[in-house]
Amino acid sequence: MSKSVSICVIGSGYVGLVAAACLADMGHRVICVDNDEARVKQLCEGGVPIFEEHLPELLAKHRGANVTFTTRLAEAVEQSEAVFIAVGTPQGDEGAADLSYVEAVVAEIARAIKSYKVIVEKSTVPVYTNDWIRRVLHRHGVDNEQFDVVSNPEFLREGTAIVDFLHPDRIVVGASNERSAEVLRRVYGPLTGGAYYAQPGSVPGPCSKEKPARLLVTSTQSAEIIKHASNAFLAMKISFINAVANLAEAVDADIEDIAAGIGLDSRIGPKFLRAGLGYGGSCFPKDVAAFHWVAQERGVNLQLLEEVRKINDTQREVFFNKVRSALWTLRGKRLAALGLAFKGDTDDIRESPAVEIIKKLLQAGAVITAYDPAAMERAKEVLPPAANMKYADDPYKAAKDADALLILTDWKEFAAIDLARLNRALRFPIIIDGRNLYKPAEMQSHGFTYVSVGRQASYHAQEGKPRKVPV
Ligand code: NAD
Ligand code: UGA
Repeated sequence: MSKSVSICVIGSGYVGLVAAACLADMGHRVICVDNDEARVKQLCEGGVPIFEEHLPELLAKHRGANVTFTTRLAEAVEQSEAVFIAVGTPQGDEGAADLSYVEAVVAEIARAIKSYKVIVEKSTVPVYTNDWIRRVLHRHGVDNEQFDVVSNPEFLREGTAIVDFLHPDRIVVGASNERSAEVLRRVYGPLTGGAYYAQPGSVPGPCSKEKPARLLVTSTQSAEIIKHASNAFLAMKISFINAVANLAEAVDADIEDIAAGIGLDSRIGPKFLRAGLGYGGSCFPKDVAAFHWVAQERGVNLQLLEEVRKINDTQREVFFNKVRSALWTLRGKRLAALGLAFKGDTDDIRESPAVEIIKKLLQAGAVITAYDPAAMERAKEVLPPAANMKYADDPYKAAKDADALLILTDWKEFAAIDLARLNRALRFPIIIDGRNLYKPAEMQSHGFTYVSVGRQASYHAQEGKPRKVPV
């Protein structure tokens, strides 16, 4: 049997497109399907619709050979042994995941099945979705012998998606029989056997031929829960450090020192302990809600997740009040906003704390000039240019004559700004940093009033400490 697997990936978004490009680089033949005609046209013509490191190079290398793009789902399914579903699962009513895109795709797959297929849940879905997919296929007249459904959750992060996919901490396969598990073992064989890492031109990362990726086979329910529980745990870590940050601020402690001190405990680890504006993005908010909903449905108490969400929401309020505290009134105040994406290294603005805070400031009458290295085009769709919402080409132009500068996204380039030039551009040297990109002492030495998260504010020599504005 050939080691290479013929694969169809349905959905060419952040996950589907990255998976398609990486599976092609691993030596498989991949057809990537999307029902968005404009997107497929752009992909066929050499375009890259999302901002992701290494993606343009991988697509350029494999387009038209190992990876092709189409809107024709039935043909793609027919030609494939494994069918990956990577469509959106947004938040629906009462927090439950909206699985209508998955169901629509499964109905289309059912009409196209003529021989045995392994259908792979790549989208993030609640437990028992596997059973529902099976049921929908049966309802459409597909026999048990013609398919298996496997859960293969994706753990990639936007911004580092390609490296995360090709050098994963783990690959999880939830399968109900050996036949389907074996197909997934072949799909991931180049990573688990290490051959990919020895291949010339492979994308570098933490795995190697000697230390290849690990694959864990579980039941389908366990695999589905591993995904939700992983995201919920990471979100909980962020809310925990943000709650501690608010305490640190109230007692003159420093959250950066505290996070370092906690993170050195190998049982806790240093990652995901960055205090800031709370988590955003297309996944943590909806996945925390969906996981909580699943537990409630089964009569299981996961109220903890409601607290995680509340702390996250409060974090934006806390930041907004810091802006008011530093500036007194907001109507007519000119503010430079650095960052629109939900985090650095991506153009994604879904559930972006930056966008949410800017909307609130606009409502309060502030005049914003924003800059983001990658997310300005997408942001203009939700924050259209207007008299009080402008965009600039770089941080210094955004800062020109502004009453204060806000740091809203943790782009690396925002941590390397020429502070003297920034000080000259601003009308008043006030920086309110929602991402703790600078040290208070450094900012004070550059003549700034500097307010950040979980640390004492430092004030420009001429300024006294303002009273806090009540929440
Ligand atoms: P996305 O919105 O970027 O992409 C989804 C794509 O599916 C779109 O291009 C859409 O046009 C296409 N699509 C929808 N219905 C279709 C249909 N019937 N036929 C063909 N194509 C169709 O979504 P995403 O961010 O890639 O997320 C996809 C899934 O992966 C979600 O369940 C998400 O929770 C999960 N996930 C996302 C990430 C991430 O970082 N974005 C990471 C891990 C898991
Ligand atoms: C997250 C997970 O990290 C991935 O493992 C998962 O596959 C993905 O969700 C998903 O299921 O979609 P992503 O949303 O791309 O990935 O980004 P993260 O790097 O996890 O950041 C999420 C949010 O948390 C961002 O708003 C980020 O700024 C914030 N964050 C992250 C913090 O506020 N503090 C931290 O220490 C880390």
